Amino acid sequence: MHKDSTAKTLLVAFLLCLTCSVLVSTAAVKLKSRQVENKKLDIKKNLLLASKLIKPTASKDEINEAYKNVEAKLVDLETGEFVTDMDPGSFDAVKASKDPKRNVIIPSDKDIAKIKRRSKIEKIYFVKENGVIKQIVLPVNGKGLWSTLYGFMVLGTDTKTVLGLGFYQHGETAGLGGEVDNPKWKAQWAGKVAFDNDWNPVLKVVKGGVVEGTSTSQHEVDGLSGATITGNGVTGLVNYWLGSHGFGSFLAKFRASQTQGGM
Ligand SMILES: Cc1cc2nc3c(=O)[nH]c(=O)nc-3n(C[C@H](O)[C@H](O)[C@H](O)COP(=O)(O)O)c2cc1C
Repeated sequence: MHKDSTAKTLLVAFLLCLTCSVLVSTAAVKLKSRQVENKKLDIKKNLLLASKLIKPTASKDEINEAYKNVEAKLVDLETGEFVTDMDPGSFDAVKASKDPKRNVIIPSDKDIAKIKRRSKIEKIYFVKENGVIKQIVLPVNGKGLWSTLYGFMVLGTDTKTVLGLGFYQHGETAGLGGEVDNPKWKAQWAGKVAFDNDWNPVLKVVKGGVVEGTSTSQHEVDGLSGATITGNGVTGLVNYWLGSHGFGSFLAKFRASQTQGGM
C-alpha cells in the first residue's frame, strides 16, 4: 500500500477510531463502579447536610463517620408500617417507582408534586444520638420547571418542625431555579412548621417573600426571584410527601408511638 494512498489514510483513520473507542469504552466500564460509589456518597452527604451533621467541606471519612448515626428504614406508605423483610441498603425507591408491580399511580387531584407515580415503599432515615431518634429524614421529589428535583426533608421528632431541606439532584437553571441549592435560601427552612393544627401540610414558598409576623409566616419561606415555577414545584413536592398520599400515615404512627415510648 502506497504511503499517500486513500486506502492507507482510511485505514489509519479507522485504526485510530477503533483504538479510541476501545479506550473510552474500557474507561467507562472500569469507572462505572466508582461513579456509582460517588453517587451514593453524594446522596449521603446531602442527607447529612440537610440534617446539619456535617459541613459542606466534609471529607469522605467524615461523611462515613457521621453516617454511622443514621439508620435507614423501609416504610409501606399506605399503612405507615415498617417493612422488615427487605434490606434498606439495596432498596432503590426511584427504580421501584418505575416498576408497575411496585408502584402506585397517583390520582391527578393528589399529584401536587407532579410525579404521576411513586413507589409503594419508601426509604426513610432516623438520625440518632446515643441510640435515641433526634431527626426524621424523608426523601422527597417533584417537578420544578425543567426537571424532577430529588432531595431530603428533615423533621424533628414532633414531626412538624422542619430542621432542613436540601436537593441532591435537579436540572433547574443555575442562578434561577438552581438557587434551591443556595445555602442562604436553604437556611430559611429550619424552624418552619410543616403542618397546621389539623395536621394538613401547609409549607409554602412565597413569591415576593415572606411577610414576617403574619399568622402564616411560620409555614413560609421566600420565593426564588425569577424562578416562581421552581418555587411552586418545591411547595407542591414538600406538601405531597408530607401529606396523606405520602408519608402522612407513617408520621401519624410515629407521633402516636412517641407517647408510648417510641417506634
Ligand atoms: C433560559 C431560562 C431559564 C429559566 N429557568 C428557570 C428555572 O430554572 N426555574 C424557574 O422557575 N423559572 C425559570 N425561568 C423563568 C420562567 O420561565 C418564568 O418566567 C419564571 O419562573 C417566573 O418567575 P417570576 O414570576 O419570579 O419571574 C427561566 C427562563 C429562561 C428564559
